[in-house]
Amino acid sequence: MEQSSDQKNKRQMKLSLFLTGDGNYHMAGWRLPGSTNDGGENIQRWVEAAQAIERAKLHMLFIADAASPPGTDDLQTLSLTARIDRMDPIPILSAVSMVTKHIGLAATMSTTYLEPYNLARTVASLDHISGGRAAWNIVTGSNKDDALHFNRDGHAPHAERYVRAEEFVDVVRGIWDSYDDDAFPRDKTSGVYMRPDKVHFLNHKGKYFKVRGPSAVPRSPQGHPVLIQAGSSEPGMNISARVADIVFTSQSSLKGAQAFYANVKSRCDRYGRSPEHMLVLPGALLFMGETESEAKEKFEQLNSLIPLRVAMQRLSANLGGVDLSKFDLDAPLPDIPVNNARVSAVESYIAISRREGLTLRQMAMRAAAAKHHWTLVGSVKRVADELESWFLNGAADGFNILPSDTPGGINILVEKLVPELQRRGLFRREYEGRTLRENLGLPRPADLSSRA
Ligand SMILES: Cc1cc2nc3c(=O)[nH]c(=O)nc-3n(C[C@H](O)[C@H](O)[C@H](O)COP(=O)(O)O)c2cc1C
Repeated sequence: MEQSSDQKNKRQMKLSLFLTGDGNYHMAGWRLPGSTNDGGENIQRWVEAAQAIERAKLHMLFIADAASPPGTDDLQTLSLTARIDRMDPIPILSAVSMVTKHIGLAATMSTTYLEPYNLARTVASLDHISGGRAAWNIVTGSNKDDALHFNRDGHAPHAERYVRAEEFVDVVRGIWDSYDDDAFPRDKTSGVYMRPDKVHFLNHKGKYFKVRGPSAVPRSPQGHPVLIQAGSSEPGMNISARVADIVFTSQSSLKGAQAFYANVKSRCDRYGRSPEHMLVLPGALLFMGETESEAKEKFEQLNSLIPLRVAMQRLSANLGGVDLSKFDLDAPLPDIPVNNARVSAVESYIAISRREGLTLRQMAMRAAAAKHHWTLVGSVKRVADELESWFLNGAADGFNILPSDTPGGINILVEKLVPELQRRGLFRREYEGRTLRENLGLPRPADLSSRA
């Protein structure tokens, strides 16, 4: 590696665990002997996962989400996947917060289908409930079918979704600033519960939203819960640079990840922000074993359990609903026009297929195994080497770890990979603070009176 161990110790990785739906990221994860197949409705699974990663001192549990199951127009294919049942992340995280103390609690909520006032109240409530550990993953939504449940006929155009997202985020932050930190003396002697001079009405009137404020929830422990942004297109990077504390991204090569890292960080200047206060965490999908051959065996075993129709449906959905049936399965992935639902995802798939020379069939299997995330199949030591290389060479501030299956993928992460990273001085051995912001080394936004 290119830096000395002294330098390494100055900066340590931030690690998040990325779980979705039933918990298994690989489409066949739920079928592996020993893995869970009821995470979509069993809170105990989420509690066990959160407690395990808290023991390993990870920063955050992140639950990805869409409001509705994708692919219901093909129930036969959907019936072979675990993607149909998915509880709302906020109640899951509220329950998890009661049996954990340090782990950050992050949920995806869409700016396209919710109202900012409700979202601000919900996330601030989670921040109170958890003692300052809430985070919101801002997405404009990659499941185009969600539109059908919210009085619309289709997903709004990509550019329009981002215009709404920008305004949405401003309203949320404004609502979080409804009260100063000391607005609630709750003084029994004087009878003063709340100080009127510490209340701020937002009075927002914009293109999409008209929101007066104030909130029903006092300012929460983190001031502003942590903001994550997961879109990597041009407008996605801009909103990241303006507001995000954490940027999630899916990158599949060191060179691409370095370019993205430099690009998104360079934009912070425009908004008067320090790039150090925006942490870039690429996804890393791990197929790990104690040895190389054990990892490969697991990878192959998992892949052998994916029906082709499931893989094709996943790829089609990831490309924004493109009909792939007319193309030759064993020819290279054809040029797919960039799609409204997932601009950066389509670009990533095309880049992977061209770089690795994959056919449509192979690309579909890849989508079902790992989508377009960076995929690591190898021994714990080799995975640690790869993560270290990205971390030390300007590609990442840490990683969003995707376990192929649960609990197997979480156990090896906690019991083997984290100790290996700790031995190398790349990961902490104890939580530094109380709130998620403190544990991420991020400043707490001042309340409005202190900002003036
Ligand atoms: C790590 C990661 C997690 C994501 N999680 C979600 C999610 O939970 N729900 C969702 O609708 N989109 C999710 N996305 C998709 C994006 O946030 C975004 O909506 C989509 O990629 C389209 O925007 P873009 O073209 O700017 O990338 C995720 C993306 C990444 C990289």
